[in-house]
Amino acid sequence: MLMNEKIEVAKQHLNKNGFLDLEIDPLLDLFSEIEKLKKEKNAVILAHYYQEPDIQDVADYIGDSLGLSQQAAKTNADVIVFAGVHFMAETAKILSPQKKVLLPDLNAGCSLADSCPPQVFEKFKERHPDHVVIMYVNCTAEIKAMSDIICTSSNARAIIESVPSNKKIIFGPDRNLGNYLIKKTGREMVLWDGACIVHEIFSAEKIIKLKNRHPNAKVIAHPECETPVLDLADYIASTTGLLKYTINNPATEFIVATETGIIHQMQKESPAKTFIPAPPNNGCACNDCPYMKLNTLEKLYLCMKYELPEILIEEEIRLKAKKSIDRMLEISAQAGL
Ligand code: 13P
Ligand code: SF4
Repeated sequence: MLMNEKIEVAKQHLNKNGFLDLEIDPLLDLFSEIEKLKKEKNAVILAHYYQEPDIQDVADYIGDSLGLSQQAAKTNADVIVFAGVHFMAETAKILSPQKKVLLPDLNAGCSLADSCPPQVFEKFKERHPDHVVIMYVNCTAEIKAMSDIICTSSNARAIIESVPSNKKIIFGPDRNLGNYLIKKTGREMVLWDGACIVHEIFSAEKIIKLKNRHPNAKVIAHPECETPVLDLADYIASTTGLLKYTINNPATEFIVATETGIIHQMQKESPAKTFIPAPPNNGCACNDCPYMKLNTLEKLYLCMKYELPEILIEEEIRLKAKKSIDRMLEISAQAGL
């Protein structure tokens, strides 16, 4: 089959599956092919810490949601290949509309973003007029367009504290992060009732048992975890914050209550330290994000080669969503984040 015909077939599959499922020669060295494609297309690979190790190893930048959006806003590349989930790639497109933004698998969504459908959220807003709407970045472009300020787990506190104390606040879609921030800031907030399927799964009881076996281990947790898990944590932060903590803290053992992908970087930065994934409340590997793990090195290679699937956003929504993200980036810069 000719290349153009192949692309046409791939496009049909793309509509059905959300990714290109063309065959790849098993002898191809995908690492060097991806490096060639980067140069050829002036492309940059931005990856989240929850991506599989091979993808992290070919990435030009690995970071948390804030770091990734800051990189997307300032890159000189023509093509941004986003190795993460849909809302992250959308954020990159909102900030850099002139660039082609690619996501290896369009089905790489997020349970938090799915928990907050725009029509239902519109009604929720109407029931709480005169509230400033602060939304966690894990939401769709439509929700961002309905928000006043976006936040991530690394700047949420600074964002909330930037709102005058006489103003009421709606916070969503993550109720666990919302409850954590209510405690940290002392601000009352109306919370949307969403949660992350990965961070909800950790068992406080099993972490206590694990801690008994490893008394010197530090428990580190992402703020999307439920309160009983956060109450056990020695340190709570975004993925970048957790990684930095493991580098700088003299402890040699860490119980990690977040998605297991981050352990790849933790281990690379501190090869002599031990990282134990916090156990989920059942026997499954539910602390792997099923959306993040839809991206594979093969899909990444194909998406760079054929420049598909591409993220496209309606201009009216993009402009509205950009305002709330720009506000976040301004406040973060003022706070030195
Ligand atoms: P971070 O911004 O801390 O990387 O979190 C993103 C995320 O999706 C956590 O589940
Ligand atoms: Fe969404 Fe949870 Fe996956 Fe993060 S880990 S992308 S919040 S489902």
